[in-house]
Amino acid sequence: MTSKDNSKAALIDSLNGLLADTLALYVKTKNFHWHVRGPQFHDLHLLFDAQATEIFALTDVIAERVRKLGGKTLTSIGSIAARTTIKNQDDTGLDAMAMVRELFEDNTAYVATLKATKELAGEAGDNATDGIIDDWTDQAEERAWFLREILA
Ligand SMILES: [Fe+2]
Repeated sequence: MTSKDNSKAALIDSLNGLLADTLALYVKTKNFHWHVRGPQFHDLHLLFDAQATEIFALTDVIAERVRKLGGKTLTSIGSIAARTTIKNQDDTGLDAMAMVRELFEDNTAYVATLKATKELAGEAGDNATDGIIDDWTDQAEERAWFLREILA
């Protein structure tokens, strides 16, 4: 393989990891939408739903970037679980502020993953991925900001 092929393979791999994180973060955000309780129920229930909708909208775009690059993408819940860095949270009694904190941390880590993927897009000369990641980053930073302000 040429170094160009290597760069492209690394980018495809990173995009698939990003896709796994996106799907896992979507499920966790919905999980919190479903299970949040307490005085801030109404606001958090709505915020988590809005964030989940935004996250889900990214999934198809990321998967299709992989296909446009000639790569194969994720196929199943198993392939998502094998690739994601987002930790499971199955405690349905989690305190509302602990949910906010966990999503803040996950979205902050997600921003770092986006930046790493952008680097690889640059190395692979993939201008389309390089550009579109800026929008995904802005969205993730906005989610992290909203969550951070609740914790203040
Ligand atoms: Fe709902």
